[in-house]
Amino acid sequence: MSDRYSPPPAFAARARINADTYSALGLDRVSDDDAERLAYWSHAAEALTWRSHWHTLLDWQAPRARWFVGGTLNATESCLDRHLSTWRRNKAAIIWEGEPLQGERPTEVRTLTYQQLHDEVCRFAGALQNLGVETGDRVCIYLPLVPEAVIAMLACARLGATHSVVFGGFSAEALRDRIHDSACKVVITADGGARKGQIVRLKDTVDQALSDQRTSSIRHVVVLKRTGHDVKMVPERDLWWDEATANAKPLYQAVYVSAEHPLFILYTSGTTGKPKGVVHSTGGYLTGVSRSYRFVFDHKDQDIFWCSADVGWVTGHSYVAYGPLCNGATIFLYEGAPTHPEPNRFWDMIERHRISILYTAPTAIRTFMRLGDHHVRRHDLSSLRLLGSVGEPINPEAWRWYHDVVGGGRCPIVDTWWQTETGSIMASPLPGLTTTKPGSCMKALPGIDLCVVRADGTACDPSEQGLLVSRKPWPSMMQTVWGDDERYRQAYWSQIKDPVTGQPWYFTGDGARFDEDGALWIAGRVDDVVNVAGHRLGTAEIESALVLHPAVAEAAVVGRPDEVRGQAVVAFVTLKADQTPSDALKAALAKQVASEIGSFARPDEIRWAGALPKTRSGKIMRRLLRELATKGRVDGDLTSLEDFGAIAALQKDDES
Ligand code: PRX
Repeated sequence: MSDRYSPPPAFAARARINADTYSALGLDRVSDDDAERLAYWSHAAEALTWRSHWHTLLDWQAPRARWFVGGTLNATESCLDRHLSTWRRNKAAIIWEGEPLQGERPTEVRTLTYQQLHDEVCRFAGALQNLGVETGDRVCIYLPLVPEAVIAMLACARLGATHSVVFGGFSAEALRDRIHDSACKVVITADGGARKGQIVRLKDTVDQALSDQRTSSIRHVVVLKRTGHDVKMVPERDLWWDEATANAKPLYQAVYVSAEHPLFILYTSGTTGKPKGVVHSTGGYLTGVSRSYRFVFDHKDQDIFWCSADVGWVTGHSYVAYGPLCNGATIFLYEGAPTHPEPNRFWDMIERHRISILYTAPTAIRTFMRLGDHHVRRHDLSSLRLLGSVGEPINPEAWRWYHDVVGGGRCPIVDTWWQTETGSIMASPLPGLTTTKPGSCMKALPGIDLCVVRADGTACDPSEQGLLVSRKPWPSMMQTVWGDDERYRQAYWSQIKDPVTGQPWYFTGDGARFDEDGALWIAGRVDDVVNVAGHRLGTAEIESALVLHPAVAEAAVVGRPDEVRGQAVVAFVTLKADQTPSDALKAALAKQVASEIGSFARPDEIRWAGALPKTRSGKIMRRLLRELATKGRVDGDLTSLEDFGAIAALQKDDES
């Protein structure tokens, strides 16, 4: 079996970047040379619509990068307006398919052309303005995956308001924390969303989140009617989407903001209990997503591009909305679950809509693989020409299945490595150029620096595993943690430094290695973050949720490998002295996590621990718990362990 896949000649011949264009465009020289790198980004930024040109390309004082200083623009002009003076005015911007609700006719499909999307965005921006939203305000978006989610994001951008999208799976508590942290003025939600034939009651969750003084910044809630069930509307505060837009004057004139203006905040898990509000700029972010979309997905006007992520995650921001729209692409959106109502749902939609690019997560691929090839083979997937993977390491077996069964052996695969913080794809094969190894994201993209180093900053040798860092700024890098510059510095720029100059480098939190051929392999997180089904969870966040339960004295959460979802969550819980372990208590604890964070964060396994293994200074030794959860025993170094009894008791439980 081959372990290298060269781009299929037919694909390479027509690709935007192939062996010929790569050197003709000078891309081979970009990453090594600072001047070339800056020229590359300057050229990439020229592809956006600017109101006024920047005077300084980059002002870099680590860890603060100011890109395109002096430039002004509005993100929606790059995503929408500029297409209206071309033939793309009547091109489909969004093709959306809903999940059938109970008793509903099979499937609802809506298409919005660029002109229609533009008009909807201007109308909704006008509605937000009527509600008192101003440039610089924060707006929370808590919607199902419907076109209005994209409309709401772009409407905020049109006004220069900063959006904070919260994934619809987050609980009222989590939503409240996020609204509070960035003091949002308005929440945009829906009565409900559809998920596996059930209604997810989003408006009820919003009401619960707002039933607390901490969310007093909220003036209004705009509610989209999606499921049609009864919801409570609070007079003065709540209004329906249609009502809000009916009397609004469309905001045809976009508000220009500086390149550094925060386009959005997106909360992500870190190593402490409190999620971080990752702030992204307007000019730099758009430069990164528009260029990477174009090169990595080999953008062609005829494509129908389906990124199956929810807009609540960064993948949905960058490759459902901003990246493709900047390029005038047609995006496909699907509201529901991948296997609902039938296991062939994905393939059926690809066939019916003639989707040409599919970008999804390894967990989905492994799930489909388990369901069996026949669900895929029933369908004509000849429209597909390129496949993508994101969010977690893809194992070679799943890669090959994706390539052979879904792609029919004809479609290159781009395994894209990046993060909420990086804003856009950092490492990926270029599909018309790169000979790819299954499981490797291959190389940093042009203009991006990635290096694998030891803890002291010295470079690792080929095949030596180390820490993945970026030594150079890039346009779509996060700007800060909302309201907490110090945390930004601490979390990303304090661990690893240039061993010669002492200059801090961006630390990704991932372990990685370059192999003998220079291909990059991501080993996964080296911090206390777990990645379950491509969803990033902070173990400290889950622990904080668990210890809120009155029966719990202490909790330690670790990840263990899971065949389908990459990792699973295991919680070791010590109860208070007067508590008795029981299955009912386990269920209550799982429920506690669901209500503090969301159902998707429920531990897969809860284990009782008489005591947790600690160092002499009182730190929980997670490494041991991780070993125990993974292998059922602990072989590692126990020298710093305070109480051998704790680990012995846990091992004994495991054997019994
Ligand atoms: O560990 C890496 C993993 O996902 C983390 C970032 O998670 P998040 O900010 O939620 O963004 C996910 C979507 C971009 C990374 O630190 N990760 C992401 N993509 C890959 C990956 N691990 C291996 N291979 C990938 N392609």
